[in-house]
Order: sequence, then C-alpha cells, then structure tokens
Amino acid sequence: MRTVTKDTITDVFLGYIGQDTDPRFKQVMTSLVTHLHDFAREVDLTHDEWRQALQFFMWTGNITTEERNEFVLLSDVMGLSSLVDMINSHPGGTSSSVLGPFHISDAPALAIGGDMKGDVEGDLVLWQGVVKDATGTPIKGATVDIWQTAPNGMYSSQDPDQDKFSFHAILTTGADGRYAFTTVRPVSYTVPTDGPVGVILNAAGRHPWRPSHLHFIAKAAGYRELVTEVFPDDDPYLNEDTVFGVREDLVVTFVPQPAGSFPSGFDLSGKVSGPYARVDFDLVLVAV
Ligand code: BEZ
Ligand code: FE
Repeated sequence: MRTVTKDTITDVFLGYIGQDTDPRFKQVMTSLVTHLHDFAREVDLTHDEWRQALQFFMWTGNITTEERNEFVLLSDVMGLSSLVDMINSHPGGTSSSVLGPFHISDAPALAIGGDMKGDVEGDLVLWQGVVKDATGTPIKGATVDIWQTAPNGMYSSQDPDQDKFSFHAILTTGADGRYAFTTVRPVSYTVPTDGPVGVILNAAGRHPWRPSHLHFIAKAAGYRELVTEVFPDDDPYLNEDTVFGVREDLVVTFVPQPAGSFPSGFDLSGKVSGPYARVDFDLVLVAV
C-alpha cells in the first residue's frame, strides 16, 4: 500500500496523469496542481479557511448570469485577466487591455465625425485618429467599436435611464484610415461590489475604482483584433486601476481647445461655440 504524505501528495497526483494525456493539458495541470499544493503547504491552510473559500466560489457561481459573470470580475481584480492579456500581447501594435463586461456586439454604425454625446450634460470631447499598421500605413475598411460610460459612471446596460446603445458605436475607416467622433468625457467608476468580489476587495483593503476610459475594439482583414481602452492622463485612479488595465501607450492628454475653434467635418460643426477637449489617438494593428 502506498502511503501518501503531505510532502509526497504532489508527486502522487502527477503520477496519476495518464500517458496519453494531451501535452499542453498535462503541462498546465502539472503546474497548476504543483502551485496549489505548494500554496496550501506554505500558508498551512486550515479546514475552516478552505471551507470559506469553497463557499466563496459557490457564491461566485450562484451570482453569475449571462449579464454578470462574477468569475470574470474575480479574474479582473486578481490581475489574472490583465496578466493573460499581457502574456499574449503582440509587440509592435497598440497595447491591448481588458474587455470588461459591458461590450454590446451589435452597436449601431456611426459615420466618421459623428456624435455620441447628444444632449447629455458633460464636457465635450473631439476624438480622432488613424487606424494604421506597424509601418504607419493607414488601414482602409477597419471597424472601430467604441463604448464608454455616461457621465453618471454607468454603462447603458447598468442604467435603465439610458438607451440600450447610448455611448456605443461602430465607425468604419475610409482610405485614409481615419476615425473621428465627438463624445462626452468619461468618468472614473467602480466595479460591482455587491457580490463576492466586493467582499474580497473590502477584506484586502482595496478600493473598487477604475480610472475613466473609452473602450475600443479595432478589426481589419489581415490584422489581429485589438481590444483596448484609452485613459486620460489626469485621472486620479490612473496608477491604481482595480483591474490593472492601464498601459503607458494607452494614456492620452485631453487637450483643452478654446471657444470658437470647433473644426468642420463633424456632425457638431457649426453647433459648438464653447470650449471642448481634443484627443488624437492612433490605433496600430499587427498583421496576422
Ligand atoms: C470595464 O472597463 O468596463 C470593466 C473591466 C473590468 C471589470 C469591470 C468593468
Ligand atoms: Fe469600462
């Protein structure tokens, strides 16, 4: 009879893995179980603590729905989503960042120079840039899917007072690769804290805030899809994003523009007399 001890259980486990096991599965499972066992030994995990952890995962599963995946949020606040994202990033292009749970796949088309702000109160932002490849050549026919919070810090799916598609739009570039739109300045907001992730953040003495940002998904035939987000450089939470999404090249200045300087070529041209902010941000895609 084989006697399993706390020092041999990891090797015994690994010995149970079959000869014909998929090599990648074997690599991942070997590493995962080795780290899990080491973790339990290192912290002298008690029955009570492990029971609490299993209760926590059960709550995470029970609160999860199609609209709210608490496991994804848990992965986000533990830094795993961002770590996986960085491990799989493609050098030479704009950095990627977390997708988050608020993307809507069938957002309406917006013409170049179109407006997302409408009559919502808040600071006007003129945002423009070029979708280009790593050599700087503009990409024609790229789609740029954009979404952000309203000035109340809520995405449309969280807020019964917003239309389903408010602050969601898809632009398609012409031969010059340019995308351009007007919107309202986004605000910092908190990730949901009314479930198990809120308990973890609280127990760890962490706040739930994300710096303000706009989300982008840029796609073009022959290029890797880019999922990213862009942050204003003066946001107070820039250096403490609770989901670790900020990368240096994703931080921009919202440059104040004087009254009377709003340019032509936008839906709002001729309708804006006051000041606004301007952002120039190019999206660089990496070839497949
Ligand atoms: C977001 O940016 O929309 C987001 C990302 C991760 C967790 C929650 C929200
Ligand atoms: Fe977001």
